[in-house]
Amino acid sequence: MALAKLLSLKFLRKPEFPLITESCLHDLQASVRYSVSCFSPFNFWNRPMKIRDLEFEDDAIKIQVAEMLFAGFSDMSPDAWPGIREAMEEVEESFSAGRISVVALENKRAVGWAAAIRQYNGNTWELHPLVVHQSHRTAGIGTALVTEIESRVNESGGLTLWVAADDESGKTSLFGQDLYPEPLEKLKNIRNTNGHPFEFYEKLGFTICGVLPDANGFGKPDIFMAKRVRRLK
Ligand SMILES: CC(C)(COP(=O)(O)OP(=O)(O)OC[C@H]1O[C@@H](n2cnc3c(N)ncnc32)[C@H](O)[C@@H]1OP(=O)(O)O)[C@@H](O)C(=O)NCCC(=O)NCCS
Repeated sequence: MALAKLLSLKFLRKPEFPLITESCLHDLQASVRYSVSCFSPFNFWNRPMKIRDLEFEDDAIKIQVAEMLFAGFSDMSPDAWPGIREAMEEVEESFSAGRISVVALENKRAVGWAAAIRQYNGNTWELHPLVVHQSHRTAGIGTALVTEIESRVNESGGLTLWVAADDESGKTSLFGQDLYPEPLEKLKNIRNTNGHPFEFYEKLGFTICGVLPDANGFGKPDIFMAKRVRRLK
């Protein structure tokens, strides 16, 4: 199935297939990238991944997303969603006005979730939250989810997508440091010491654009990253 999609991608780009939208193409590309990156003789054919809107009626999937969110941050940001209840509240909030909420499904099970919040009159959107199931990381799902959010923000007329990436657990060289009086100097020399996601975002074209010293307590900063998602005319 995935190979069939891969082979047909170049044809889908032809103008005689007007019903294939950019968003569809993104979906296909995400699906293909994921399948290819999961390549092994055993799973290549039976690991189709789909990205679609998370729907209010998706009761079982919403619970899976909440569990994934809770588990995904319990180590690095334990106060973000201290329990499944708080995680579920976050999931429910993603259905509010001015939100985007997309889920990655594998065999109808949630393996990743990304949401975004409209800000600055829709010129800017905040990516929040983003999580991929522990057992499915580094297989391209995070990239596929962010790409989908970028595409949606672009379609809605947004220019910028930004994300706040805390360091509450010693994952960068900024952790435990007094960033004053020159926080930007320290930010310039940031190093990833323990798998902080800022490098993941850099690979997707995000740029570090700021830091809030002590955002989560002394020496626990929040790191801001942004990306222009629309080409300027
Ligand atoms: C961060 C996260 C969403 C990435 O999802 P993923 O599906 O594993 O990412 P991808 O497979 O698309 O990775 C794309 C690239 O980024 C790299 N990458 C992923 N996570 C990384 C990390 N924490 N640090 C450095 N590089 C990372 C991958 O190795 C890959 O590199 P490559 O293209 O050279 O092979 C996932 O690790 C996660 O859910 N983490 C816990 C929650 C979290 O940190 N959310 C973001 C909070 S701001």
